[in-house]
Amino acid sequence: MTASTAPLGVLAIDGPAGAGKSTVSQRVAAALGVTMLDTGAMYRAITLACLRARVAPADAAACAEIAARVTIDLEAGRTRLDGDDVSEEIRGREVTMAVSEVSAHPGVRRRLVEHQRRWASHRDGCVVEGRDIGTVVFPDARLKVFLVASARERAERRFREETEAGRAVDLDDLIADIDRRDRLDSTRAVSPLIAADDAVVVDTTRRTIDAVVAEIVDLYRSAGGAP
Ligand code: DC
Repeated sequence: MTASTAPLGVLAIDGPAGAGKSTVSQRVAAALGVTMLDTGAMYRAITLACLRARVAPADAAACAEIAARVTIDLEAGRTRLDGDDVSEEIRGREVTMAVSEVSAHPGVRRRLVEHQRRWASHRDGCVVEGRDIGTVVFPDARLKVFLVASARERAERRFREETEAGRAVDLDDLIADIDRRDRLDSTRAVSPLIAADDAVVVDTTRRTIDAVVAEIVDLYRSAGGAP
């Protein structure tokens, strides 16, 4: 059998908060032996930089200026902002509350989209996880998956994650936060959260992670993205 020399291509995984994107993307990348980019972590890091600089999340020009100035590194599952490991801090409430507003600014998005394309251009096969990966960042992705799950199940999953990480949270607050972020993310003018026309919609409600991962790996292989 001759080994394929065609580039494996990008596997784009988009979807709303709590649909299982992070876990599924990590597991799919591990199964395929490729690296993964968590673009949400990049938007969170920029948001943290804005908060640290005391810039209002609504201030488009100032947020874009910060996005142009800071360095974000995502290596080995850690997120670094100007060299400082902020992996835990970017998951905190302050950043979570402000990230939808900061990520809606076109200047912020332009910077990060450039960064994401540069990152993928060095790789033969990768999983890129986010909200606009299949629609805007990589419209020619080898495979586009749009993960969905019911709002209640998404809130319950977040609740478990937060509790396991030792952060105290309230389930009703999480449901309200998921609704608020869905609304902001899907109605913003630039790169709203919508499935690409050619995306495969995968509903993860009441399905095991293993089953979802296996389905996506098969889809990627069928698309010629892996041997
Ligand atoms: O996946 P997450 O919850 O860590 O994402 C944090 C925020 O970043 C989310 O509210 C929307 C935004 N985001 C985005 O606008 N575009 C992306 N490609 C990824 C995330």
